[in-house]
Amino acid sequence: MKVANVVGARPNFVKIAPILRAMRADSFFQPLLVHTGQHYGQAMSDVFFDELEMPRPDINLSVGSGSHGRQTGEVMVRFEEVVLSARPDLVLVVGDVNSTLAAALVASKLHVPVAHVEAGLRSFDRTMPEEINRVLTDAISELLFLTERAAERNLLAEGIPAKRIFFVGNVMIDALLANRPRAAKSGILAGLALKEGRYAVLTLHRPSNVDEAGPLSRIVAALEVISAKMPIVFPAHPRTVKNLDAFGLSERLRRAGDVRILGPLGYLDFLHLVDCAGMVLTDSGGLQEETTFLGVPCVTLRENTERPVTVEEGTSTLVGSDTSKILAAAQKALSTGRRTARIPELWDGHASERIVAILKERFA
Ligand code: UD1
Repeated sequence: MKVANVVGARPNFVKIAPILRAMRADSFFQPLLVHTGQHYGQAMSDVFFDELEMPRPDINLSVGSGSHGRQTGEVMVRFEEVVLSARPDLVLVVGDVNSTLAAALVASKLHVPVAHVEAGLRSFDRTMPEEINRVLTDAISELLFLTERAAERNLLAEGIPAKRIFFVGNVMIDALLANRPRAAKSGILAGLALKEGRYAVLTLHRPSNVDEAGPLSRIVAALEVISAKMPIVFPAHPRTVKNLDAFGLSERLRRAGDVRILGPLGYLDFLHLVDCAGMVLTDSGGLQEETTFLGVPCVTLRENTERPVTVEEGTSTLVGSDTSKILAAAQKALSTGRRTARIPELWDGHASERIVAILKERFA
């Protein structure tokens, strides 16, 4: 069975690694790895392939950055040629980035079945580009693999037949469990002179937080207060760095208590940094899941989440970009401390094996 596995952005690399490993362990599968090039270069792309011990992509479409239309369109034009020449039996896409939707659209129009891993998540906020990508990808997927129960309700409400839906667990947690022992050897804490539990980790990249001065400056105001009490480690996304500079906020952050603005980190250093943090502040969906699994308090800088299990059972608190809400949640997170969170159902390190077993049964 020839499967074209498509990745484009950082979280995709993490999700595909355990799936690819499971496929490569069974000669029934002939997996092909296609990188769209949405994220590129050593820090945003290559380091993940090295650290997750993944083969280099068989094909790189090198689309690079661009507006939504341009990026999505370029992936479609280039991926169509790949599907026409490689003739896969299935196209497998993960997550909710532009590359996910573009590849799914191409495959479905060429009558190649699509499997979507991490299907059914809904923020019900259509101003988020990812929400559009999720709704549309799910509508044209043959097989939908789910990370949490809420996703099943969402898909059924949209009229997706139950026979296409499989609740399998979370492949990102497969990757976390497989790599946590190696991550524990990272020297990042020593390198930054950090003490376990005594620092916060920040990530920020959502357009709704970083593309306008208002929300970004409200977040910076909260960081000024928090960083007077504990170091904040901030591996910054290129988009965020650009906007902090453009809005004149970089200087304010540099003058604040102790904010360490770093470039993007590799998977292992970052996992260890989060694993040992006193608290995480983030607008990333994946990180809400990882902190839930690790029991690290997570102050989520968003008004909504497509991953409700991280709030209902996990460690995430939604606060948006309001300065006082961020400060109140951070205070609470630090006083509650790390806890043994309830680990969501089937987040057990075996989601990829379940996916691969279902594919084999379907296509054998
Ligand atoms: C993308 C995804 C987002 C995901 C995130 C994970 C979409 C719509 N967005 O957001 O869902 O959470 O990845 O990281 O698919 N850039 C670089 N180097 C790179 C990539 C990007 O410098 O390797 C800069 C460019 O200026 C680019 C900007 O970052 O214009 C945004 O990149 P893009 O891939 O469009 O979206 P992300 O914000 O990374």
